[in-house]
Amino acid sequence: MTVRPPIAMLAELTHRCPLSCPYCSNPVELTRVDRELDTDTWKSVLRQAADLGVLQLHLSGGEPASRRDLEELVSAARDAGLYTNLITSGIGLSERRLKALDDAGLDHIQLSLQGTNPEMADEIGGYAGGFKRKMMVADWIGAIGFPLTLNAVLHRRNLHQLPRAIEMAVEMGARRIEVATVQFHGWALKNRDTLMPTRAQAREADTIVAEARARLKGTLVIDYVPADYHSDYPKRCMGGWGTTGLNIAPDGKVLPCHAAETIPHLSFDNVRDRPLRDIWDHGAAFDAYRGTDWMQEPCRSCDRAKVDFGGCRCQAMAIVGDAAATDPVCIKSPHHGALEARAAAHSEAEADLIYRSPPLRSVEPAE
Ligand code: SF4
Ligand code: FES
Repeated sequence: MTVRPPIAMLAELTHRCPLSCPYCSNPVELTRVDRELDTDTWKSVLRQAADLGVLQLHLSGGEPASRRDLEELVSAARDAGLYTNLITSGIGLSERRLKALDDAGLDHIQLSLQGTNPEMADEIGGYAGGFKRKMMVADWIGAIGFPLTLNAVLHRRNLHQLPRAIEMAVEMGARRIEVATVQFHGWALKNRDTLMPTRAQAREADTIVAEARARLKGTLVIDYVPADYHSDYPKRCMGGWGTTGLNIAPDGKVLPCHAAETIPHLSFDNVRDRPLRDIWDHGAAFDAYRGTDWMQEPCRSCDRAKVDFGGCRCQAMAIVGDAAATDPVCIKSPHHGALEARAAAHSEAEADLIYRSPPLRSVEPAE
């Protein structure tokens, strides 16, 4: 099968982060700082990515601003011809650093929003004063003139704030808002009972997004990730496995998606050992679910097989115990009824938020 080059690469520069969000999709076991790739290795990876055909680089974490060499990496990415997007909570950024990132050639910023007021945002992020700081960062971003996307992660606790989140995106001059209903991967699975939206909330969010899209056409683009446990068809996760994007973990492991390590039988190549092009073209983890040959029924004979590629492999693994199964979000999955029942049960359950572990929270933001 001919393998086309990826369009986008997510570089998870570090798992260090000043926030401790209960919906964090990073793995339960985080990569320690002494296992992170060094600056020169990252620079080589960025050049290899551009040679491979990657156009967009998403710099992520953790909090990517926790890396002191962030500006140097942005500069290297720009030299390699990559479009650079920084995915940040803003907490690790100062005005001086933002200006330095501008000088380095950063193209775009995606700022996360945990809530639309200090009470909600600081509770969800587990960081007192975080909202106030984030609003300052948003002002600096606007003053420098970075194109901005606001990324609002929504769940049962804060879905009522969706209209205000959309207003805030307009007020900040953002070009785009990503309304992302929480996905249950990594640490987030521990908080499914607390964060699962109700079906009524999910339907209301659909209505709010549809109305805002019509009203704000030409002003704000709204990307929407609906509550998939309450959907009839799954999302085309990662645009299709091994099709359009890849992730590099902080230690250099090359992953077909950010949660791929939850699929226990997969083994992952590392940029320390093998060229990136070779990993993309021939790596076992990428070959595992590329295309449609691996599919089982009902996906195999479904007319949507090349529309959604059977949904999310990691979700099939987490819920059905088989990464090659149809994503149970799909109404054709034999497990869909059980998923709906679980979604209803989770969305009525009460539990305390379980924050990320203290070592993460103790990391101070970079100057
Ligand atoms: Fe998608 Fe598979 Fe469901 Fe068809 S059966 S809609 S391919 S998940
Ligand atoms: Fe891994 Fe969807 S998160 S395929």
